[in-house]
Amino acid sequence: MTSTFTSPSGEAPHAAPPPAVAATGVSKVYGSGDAAVRALHEVSVGFARGAFTAIMGPSGSGKSTLMHCLAGLDTVTSGRIVLGDAEITGMGDRQLTMLRRDRVGFVFQAFNLLPTLTAEQNILLPLELAGRRPDRAWFDQVVDVVGLRDRLGHRPSELSGGQQQRVACARALVARPDVIFADEPTGNLDSRAGAEVLGFLRASVREMGRTIVMVTHDPVAASYADRVVFLRDGAIVSEIVRPTPDAVLDRLKSLGA
Ligand SMILES: Nc1ncnc2c1ncn2[C@@H]1O[C@H](COP(=O)(O)OP(=O)(O)OP(=O)(O)O)[C@@H](O)[C@H]1O
Ligand SMILES: [Mg+2]
Repeated sequence: MTSTFTSPSGEAPHAAPPPAVAATGVSKVYGSGDAAVRALHEVSVGFARGAFTAIMGPSGSGKSTLMHCLAGLDTVTSGRIVLGDAEITGMGDRQLTMLRRDRVGFVFQAFNLLPTLTAEQNILLPLELAGRRPDRAWFDQVVDVVGLRDRLGHRPSELSGGQQQRVACARALVARPDVIFADEPTGNLDSRAGAEVLGFLRASVREMGRTIVMVTHDPVAASYADRVVFLRDGAIVSEIVRPTPDAVLDRLKSLGA
């Protein structure tokens, strides 16, 4: 073997960059004794930086549990979670709260907007709570990507479901988190509004270099991602890179979902 392809330290020259967030041998058991439910079993998976990954699987397969463990919203029973350069398993509540505030963004099925605040105030709220000054140029870029420029003064009740979810996406993006976690972000939207939100999520990955991990039941939604991983009974059982809706549907069928 020539030394051309080996760095002086002996490392592979094209080693993949470290993932934005990774689980190694993660198991999660809820409850104990007869009531114990094993939600995750020895899950090892990494989510690449600057990529959009979907997590799919039957109801109860552990999708939300995996996402909550990855995001520091729930603790693991065993195994490790590394987010960026930080091992979050073993962190205390205070550290986890700061990590979630500074490095993680969330988008849920329910939009979770504050009804008395305008769209702009909702978007800026996390920064305000963190005592951080908004970067106006970045705010403007986010608002333009989500297409909310002319809706900034509106309250949630004055916005459509799709627009409310775009406000929630903008709120997750504006703090420039390392990873955005989205659990069924289009679950409450009709297909047109869902397509808008998905298009915007994909644009935030392509154009703004964000990292997104999204749980979905919908093969069309999953096809917006760069990669789909499939969970069954708390374990990763399959994956598809550059998914199409048909390929996702076929795989779900073959997995008995
Ligand atoms: N807080 C909890 N206490 C006890 N069991 C739980 C808890 N949360 C989840 N579970 C169980 O863990 C398993 C995985 O649940 P999880 O919510 O991760 O599934 P999911 O894949 O997100 O399902 P869905 O598609 O229905 O949202 C299920 O059997 C569920 O009942
Ligand atoms: Mg779930």
